[in-house]
Amino acid sequence: MSTYRLGVIRGDGTGPEVVGEALKVLDSVSDGFDVRQVEFDLGAERFLRTGDVLPDAELDGLRGCDAILLGAVGDPRVKPGILERDLLLKIRFELDQYVNLRPVIRYPGVPTLVPSHAESDVDFVVVRENTEGLYVGAGGAFRKGTPQEVAIQASVNSRFGTERIVRYAFAEARKPGRRRHVTLVHKTNVLNYAGDLWARVFAEVAAKNTDVETAYCHVDAACIYFLDDPRRFDVIVTDNMFGDIITDLGAMIQGGMGVAAGGNINPDGVSMFEPIGGTAPDHTGKGTINPLAAIGALEMLLRQLGEADAAERVDRGIRASTGKMTSMRAAEMGYSTSEVGDLVVEGAAT
Ligand code: IPM
Ligand code: MN
Repeated sequence: MSTYRLGVIRGDGTGPEVVGEALKVLDSVSDGFDVRQVEFDLGAERFLRTGDVLPDAELDGLRGCDAILLGAVGDPRVKPGILERDLLLKIRFELDQYVNLRPVIRYPGVPTLVPSHAESDVDFVVVRENTEGLYVGAGGAFRKGTPQEVAIQASVNSRFGTERIVRYAFAEARKPGRRRHVTLVHKTNVLNYAGDLWARVFAEVAAKNTDVETAYCHVDAACIYFLDDPRRFDVIVTDNMFGDIITDLGAMIQGGMGVAAGGNINPDGVSMFEPIGGTAPDHTGKGTINPLAAIGALEMLLRQLGEADAAERVDRGIRASTGKMTSMRAAEMGYSTSEVGDLVVEGAAT
């Protein structure tokens, strides 16, 4: 029987509540394998208490896990940028989690913001590059604080980094349930250097994967199609910044942040899975937050570990629960946080 070392970062705000529900679900589906949970006390609370964001010892501890489940990090008391860059992005970069995989699936019975969407219209996955682009922090500020101030923020796009993410997208398009179709989303009409590299690499990889259909779409047009014609998408591959933005729109057409999960994946290393919605300070400690995004993250984590049966059971559990809930929004679900967890456990068992 396999034993997995699972790193758990419960984090701040509603993070601990939703992670608690995901672990409850994990417990109910993990009869075919063992899980050893290792807790990492990281996030705003730790930072405010000790000044530590991500000490080396803890980073090494994370490297030693088979997978990581993250709740959420952040707090209005911490200056924006610290936890984002020195914790979340540092883990993504240091563990070389170069794929940010964000499924955009509308589960059964989930109310939509877009009345023209049929339930099955929304079923695609965004493969967001996760270690390059504008997120690298390349650039500089000059004459700061003067009227002549200059700020340069450069997007870093390597051939290596572009090629590996595009290859991943093509492989993703062949997975069960996918339709062997990959769309490159970029802005090649304006970004003449980065867009040109992405377009050439995409064409090269496409030429070696002729069983997969391809399309191209500018990022602004992609936003229109998310609302107007989401069926045209199966797998989207895009850069870090565009991927960040369009996946929030993706979350909204799938039913909101309450159901949006994502994975920061290193296919040859340690991957980290998270609900993408954040800490929801207004709901902290009230038992009103929707845990389905965290439970969806758990499903992705199990798939990444190769525990497909357990992942399928979690998927069944999620699909059984959504139809019963009145809304995916916090405090409007018709159930408490832990009751939603119970619905999933129940559905996973059948
Ligand atoms: C996300 C978040 C992060 C990002 C922030 C918190 C750094 O918005 O996971 O999408 O921009 O990647
Ligand atoms: Mn984001």
